[in-house]
Amino acid sequence: MAKAKKLFIKTYGCQMNVYDSERMAEALGGSGYESTSRADEADMILLNTCHIREKAAEKIYSELGRMRDLKDAKPDLKIGVAGCVAQAEGQEIMRRMPLVDLVVGPQSYHRLPAMEARVQAGEKALDTDFPEEDKFEKLKARPKMARAPAAFLTVQEGCDKFCAFCVVPYTRGAEVSRPVSRIMDEARDLVERGVREITLLGQNVNAYHGRGEGGDYSLARLIEALSDIDGLQRIRYMTSHPNDMGDDLIAAHGKCAKLMPYLHLPVQSGSDRILKRMNRSHTADSYIKLIERVRAARPDILFSGDFIVGFPEETEADFQATLDLIRAVGYGQAYSFKYSPRPGTPAAERPQVGEDEMTDRLRRLQALLTDQQRDIQNAMIGRELDVLFERPGRMAGQMVGKSPYLHAVHVVAPEAKPGQIARVRIIRSATNSLEGELV
Ligand code: SAH
Ligand code: SF4
Ligand code: F3S
Repeated sequence: MAKAKKLFIKTYGCQMNVYDSERMAEALGGSGYESTSRADEADMILLNTCHIREKAAEKIYSELGRMRDLKDAKPDLKIGVAGCVAQAEGQEIMRRMPLVDLVVGPQSYHRLPAMEARVQAGEKALDTDFPEEDKFEKLKARPKMARAPAAFLTVQEGCDKFCAFCVVPYTRGAEVSRPVSRIMDEARDLVERGVREITLLGQNVNAYHGRGEGGDYSLARLIEALSDIDGLQRIRYMTSHPNDMGDDLIAAHGKCAKLMPYLHLPVQSGSDRILKRMNRSHTADSYIKLIERVRAARPDILFSGDFIVGFPEETEADFQATLDLIRAVGYGQAYSFKYSPRPGTPAAERPQVGEDEMTDRLRRLQALLTDQQRDIQNAMIGRELDVLFERPGRMAGQMVGKSPYLHAVHVVAPEAKPGQIARVRIIRSATNSLEGELV
């Protein structure tokens, strides 16, 4: 048998890229590649990229620049760019970076093996189509390797919302939902291989509407079907859009024991004027009412959110409205960003907020969010929670796992194995994790 070639994939951006990187590695497994964690021993390097903010995209060009030495040392090395920068700037990458052999957009990964063959023959390969066929269906089946206890599973891709700041509708294309039977098969397979927790992924995962037995499935109906799988203990989903939180999904948070009490629900701003300019089609008030309805279904649910400061024409009063919204909601976790103008999006053409102002607003916003996170974590001290162990910790006998609320929890548990769920009393709170002891 020919010696396996080595594949090194570096993943940037969101969870969907993490999932896609796994699937690309599997697809190229059929072309004789096995994965390595070392770029310097690779026969092929793939950068799975993110275009969401300017910094993310620029990183790719500097990373490629650093690869010149590797390619000089090993002329047979093939270098590919996948993901959202590939989709948005594929032609430019090929022009600016002659060392790149292959560019593949997120909807064309099933064509990777054929592209790899062309690259081996000394050609360049570029594919940034949005083909009709389902990329996941055409990707080779997962090899039957054991898996870590928590896994991602993409159920929906793309976005039709066109928020004025965002590149995702352009890089990932229109909303597409995978059929129910494929998702069920993939979930059963993951569980057979040791997975206990599945996070369903989609750019707007709660807009999911897949074909299934007996008609259309909403995300809530899909979760209900998945929760019948024995051995699957926990279900999560992300990212959700406030406008797609259906009544059945809210109700599922109160009814479905396997659905974890955590909801990532980005709002971006608390100012109606800015929300309108962002093309978000919800108001601060409708968002807060939605939060209240979810809390009524599941009182202990923990919310996380995304925020943008310094969107074009954001005033101090608009920013204060965002702080007010944060105070009204109480977030257990949050991601916040300075607005970054993206080529081709409507907001990039509008009057920009100054850099110093943005820096100052981000600092004040993060201070409030950090306070909230700390208070919510401190309130966990003394409580008993079920922790799903995922991997050994750094200290001897220590395990790291996740609480139902997605906190990382460190526990001394010398007998425990990854995949077990244990009752744990929380004894301490650190910056981004909790510490507990077995009950
Ligand atoms: N589909 C998800 C998330 C998309 S991107 C949603 O609708 O919420 C993840 C986050 O990146 C966004 O929620 C937003 O907060 C941030 N983001 C997107 N475009 C941005 C930009 N141009 N500048 C700064 N942050 C941005
Ligand atoms: Fe981007 Fe808005 Fe779509 Fe989210 S809903 S992916 S922020 S356009
Ligand atoms: Fe980035 Fe694309 Fe995800 S732009 S956040 S990798 S969808």
